[in-house]
Amino acid sequence: MQSADPLQVTSLVVRYGEKVAVDHLTFSVKTGEIYGLLGPNGAGKSSTIKAILGLVPADEGTIRVMGKEAPSKEVMNYIGAVLESPAIFDVLTPLEFFEFVASVRRVKDPSRLNALVEAFELRQYLKTPIASLSMGNKQKVAVIAAMLHRPKLLLLDEPFNGLDVKSVRIFKELLKMHVEGGGSVIFSTHIMDVAEKICTRVGIINEGKMVAEGTVEELRNQVKAASLEDVFLKATEEEEEVKSLINALSGS
Ligand SMILES: Nc1ncnc2c1ncn2[C@@H]1O[C@H](COP(=O)(O)OP(=O)(O)OP(=O)(O)O)[C@@H](O)[C@H]1O
Ligand SMILES: [Mg+2]
Repeated sequence: MQSADPLQVTSLVVRYGEKVAVDHLTFSVKTGEIYGLLGPNGAGKSSTIKAILGLVPADEGTIRVMGKEAPSKEVMNYIGAVLESPAIFDVLTPLEFFEFVASVRRVKDPSRLNALVEAFELRQYLKTPIASLSMGNKQKVAVIAAMLHRPKLLLLDEPFNGLDVKSVRIFKELLKMHVEGGGSVIFSTHIMDVAEKICTRVGIINEGKMVAEGTVEELRNQVKAASLEDVFLKATEEEEEVKSLINALSGS
């Protein structure tokens, strides 16, 4: 029997009052996939991720994680999440925060934490209050907390935000190792270069709707574009607008 996809989102609708943020969105993430969720500001990426986690209610549609109905407490054991504005406790130190997460997720073996702390070079900050860490180091704390319990599905909202060049490289390698070990990843990003390099598939959403989906190569061939950035601008109908804005700038 074929096992269920790590993530299946079907006809998801998220509304904020009159505003439709996610509009009948359907997509799935398969085992071993790194799926990039792309789209302009306000497209509905974070709302989709929040709905999967149950942080905003889904008004319509279904979400399944490892074949089980989501959001639910049970599926949270399969998920590691990094949110857009990570809610981490400023008055705790990273070490205290990791101990808290390890206890909630029942992680007993400290070797995983040690390996992640070494990988992101965070050891010297383990006992510094999170509030006084730099933006990038706070992001590393959120990433480590998400990966600590070896979740099957990583759900990451702009996870590369604020990370330096070396950390981005390490993180990309960790994501590759995660999927090689049978895990899956979905992440939103505005960095086309990262998406192009590591995503097995991307979905471009605009105004809450899926406007293009496939491997980067498929999408490039479909719209005869040289890069994912060009595909993105075509799919979101921003290409002409960008051209006229640049023309206006060069004429000014
Ligand atoms: N709590 C909220 N209340 C009302 N409207 C909201 C709320 N959160 C998001 N929205 C609206 O829903 C739409 C989708 O927002 P969302 O944050 O999901 O976009 P996004 O794709 O993550 O954008 P970005 O790239 O800027 O992070 C936007 O129009 C936004 O203004
Ligand atoms: Mg967002």
